[in-house]
Formats: sequence, C-alpha cells, structure tokens
Amino acid sequence: MDCLIGVDIGTTGAKTILMDSSGRQLASATEEYPLSNPQPKWSEQDPERWVQAALNTIRDALRKADVPARRVKGVGFSGQMHGLVLLDEAGGVLRPAILWNDVRTTEQCREIESVVGRETLFQETCNPALEGFTAPKVLWVRRHEPEIYERARHILLPKDYVRYRLTGELAMEASDAAGTLLYNVRERRWSKPVLDALQIPVEWMPPAYESSEICGRATSETAEKTGLPEGTPFVGGGADNACAAVGNGIVVEGKAAASLGTSGVVLAHTDKPLVDPDMRAHTFCHAVSDRWYSMGVMLSAGGAFRWLRDALCQEEAADAEKSGVDVYEIMSQKAAEAPVGSEGLLFLPYLTGERTPHADANAKAAFVGLTLRHGKGEIIRAAMEGITYGMRDSLEIIRGLGVEVTEIVATGGGGKSAFWRQMQADIYEAEVTAIAQSEGPAFGAAILAGVGSGVFGSCEEAAEAFINVESRTEPNPDVRDAYRRGYSAYRSLYPALKPSFDAISLMVEEAAG
Ligand code: XUL
Repeated sequence: MDCLIGVDIGTTGAKTILMDSSGRQLASATEEYPLSNPQPKWSEQDPERWVQAALNTIRDALRKADVPARRVKGVGFSGQMHGLVLLDEAGGVLRPAILWNDVRTTEQCREIESVVGRETLFQETCNPALEGFTAPKVLWVRRHEPEIYERARHILLPKDYVRYRLTGELAMEASDAAGTLLYNVRERRWSKPVLDALQIPVEWMPPAYESSEICGRATSETAEKTGLPEGTPFVGGGADNACAAVGNGIVVEGKAAASLGTSGVVLAHTDKPLVDPDMRAHTFCHAVSDRWYSMGVMLSAGGAFRWLRDALCQEEAADAEKSGVDVYEIMSQKAAEAPVGSEGLLFLPYLTGERTPHADANAKAAFVGLTLRHGKGEIIRAAMEGITYGMRDSLEIIRGLGVEVTEIVATGGGGKSAFWRQMQADIYEAEVTAIAQSEGPAFGAAILAGVGSGVFGSCEEAAEAFINVESRTEPNPDVRDAYRRGYSAYRSLYPALKPSFDAISLMVEEAAG
C-alpha cells in the first residue's frame, strides 16, 4: 500500500506522521525545540532546529514503521503561521526567525495602516495589520536592524524554509502566504499594491503554489539523512490551522471547527473569500485549492483553564494525583455542580490580551459579579462559560458573514470533555461533534501530500473517507435562555472595562520603569 508523510513544524516542536493510503497511522515521531524570548514581547526560534527536527523525525518515523521507503509517495509540511525567516542571496539565514506570537511590532502595524490604508488591506490582504503577521516583522527589521535588511533577498515562512532545505527549492503556498499580509487573498497571488506601498521587493517573495501542488523533491543529502528515496515529491503543504481543518474534514461549506487548545480557534470553511467589514475575524486561503476559511483566534482559551488549575485548584490537582483521574475532569465535575450561568458570575478570558474579536493587547482577564454565595464550582464553571462565550464571539462574526454553520467539530483538550462539549453545543446553539482520532495538522499535511502525488483524487474525498464521528451533541433547549442572558452580559463587559484595561496597562508599564 502507498504511504504518505506529514510533518508539522509547530511552535514547541516538530511532529511527523507516516500513514498508509487508508488513512491509518503507521508511525509518528516528535522532537521538541526551544523558544527564545530575548526581550519582553519578543519570541524567536533558530530555523536550523526545525530542519534538524524534521530530518530526525522523518528518519525515526520511517524506522519505526519499518516499511520500504520507496512506498512513500509524497511529503507534506504544515507549520506555525506568520514567522519571518529572512535569507541572504546564498540562502543563508540572516537572523533568528521572528514568530507569530512575537508582539514587538505595534508601531509597524500603525505604519502599515497609514502607508497602505485600511481599504487596500481590506481589498487585497482581507486582514488588518496585526503584530503577529509577517509584514510588520519585515518593517521592524528594516527599521531596527538595517545592516541585516540590506543583505536580505528572500522571505520564507517556517515550514517553507524547512522544505527549501530538504529540496533546494524556494516556495510558498496560498494558505501560509495569506498570513503574510503581502498576498492578495481573494486572487491568490502576491499583492503588488501592498508590496509596492511597503517598498518590499516582489522578487523577495518565492513562487506561491496551491497546497497540494508539488514544489520540490528530496535532494540526495535529504535522502541520505532520512532514508527517503531521492526525488520523493514534496507538496506545498499548508498553514497549521488550514492543515488541521483538512484533517478534521472542514473542507465543505457548513462545517466548522472549534479548537480549545492553549488558544481558541473557530474556523469555518467558505467557498468564497468572505471578509468581515471590521476585519475582526481572519480571512485566509484554505489548503483546499480555490477555497477559503474564516477564523477567529482567542489567545487564551484552554490556556486560561490551565491558569485556573495552577492558580486555584491545588486541592483538585492533589486529588487527581491520588485517584489517577485527570485534574481537568475533577474540575469539570465541580463545575457541573454549579448552575448554568454560575449564579451571575462572569469571566473574561483575556489573560494575554485578545485577538478576536477585540484585537487589543491591553485587554485583561476578569471575574465580574462575585458574591458571598460563589464557591469554587461557580468560579470554575464561570471560567469555562467565559472561554466558551469568547469562542461564540468568533462564531457570531463568521455567522454574520452569511456562513450557515450546521456542524461544529470540537477539538483540542476542551473537545475531549463531554461536559465541555455539551456546554459548547448549548452556547453555540449548534450541533457539536467529536471525531475518533483528531490527528492534528500533520495528518492534514499527509492528506495534501496524497492529493499532490495522485494517491487521493481530492482533499474532499480523502478527508471525508477518514472522518469517523464518535459523538454528536445537540444543544439542550432548556438552558438556551439562561446562556443567552449570560452571553449578553458577557458582551457588555469588554466595552465597559476597556478604559480601565488601558489605565492598568499604563500603570504596569510605569511601575516597570
Ligand atoms: C494563526 C496563528 C496561530 C499560529 C500558531 O493566525 O497565529 O494559530 O498559526 O501556530
């Protein structure tokens, strides 16, 4: 049987899976690498570590599966989005990569807004200038490290740099190019108006393919280091969110995914590029050719729940240790004892600022409505409800674009809990499904490799064939009104507290000197 490889170049490590053409995973391998924060707001990584991790994990997966390497028909990469990798003329890395979660570029975002203009951004890139995106990072290097900028000749993103090293070909693909803010998302090509306005040479941008197109082949050196046959095709692959969507079957209109990981992501497939007039949700090219997706990103979702565990739930953690039951399960049991709406206690989950819907680095988390009657059960439940209301904010923006979401696949840690899935169905007012193996972005990348190498007829066909729905959760009509009241109160809090959040940020900055 033919085999395929998917490699995810994540933020904390690389994961490679080897699967056969029936979608069965034969082996996987992971390797972690460090993240460096040399200054407040900075987040960087050494691209060489990604390359070594990719080579090692491909080699390890092939060894573990013990299948003849010639059966591998293609390799696909998925990757953390937006990270800037600057190369010189000879393809050498000029400085550490500046990652998606690096927020040093607020000034450059304002510069882009004034030089390019919001209307051109809306028409061309379909997204606003946000700190995490690639273009402001290029401007930051030009302003603060001119000697490096002078030598720059090529711009790549994390997974594309790894593919470049393994194949020798400079390439990008639509789903990741969409996150650079230098790409025309509607027409799927580099944006001359934006590049010209920012004075970034278009020659610095590599050819941008579709995700399942072959854009390189394994070099002899790659073959030697991994065991792959020389000439093995490498497809464009995709942004991690796009690849995860492919792997979770979000490849037709009506389907959406709600991922409660550290961050929270609500993503819906769209047949056309639909752009929020206020650009609160992101509109990016899908890894499915000529399709798009709309996505809202919460910066602290599961991350806020983890914070609650560490800050307030030592007792539950000790019980978990003793009983062998997962601490989050114990916390959920406590939450389940509290009433829907947590007796008026509300939680804003903005522990690390927020992206969707507020795009505000100063936003803060808060519990509002505490009374003497509230105990730990209400506090935990309020946190879960607040995080889920935050996800609904993204869903509402997507619904407002006219997307009729009929099914939401719950993934991430929050998707594993039956209690949280029910809460999601109730708050989203939509059916929530869980699928048997949520394989993540590497699985989607392997599917793209299969499409590109002719093992599968199309992304849609492969994704449909491999999806195995394990549970379906319908919203409970009895709690609808209580949650509607809660959501409405939740929505009133951010605008009311915004001036205080700004004042608190200033106070903290001044105290830090
Ligand atoms: C999306 C984003 C993140 C990264 C994380 O816009 O910034 O989801 O892709 O890997």
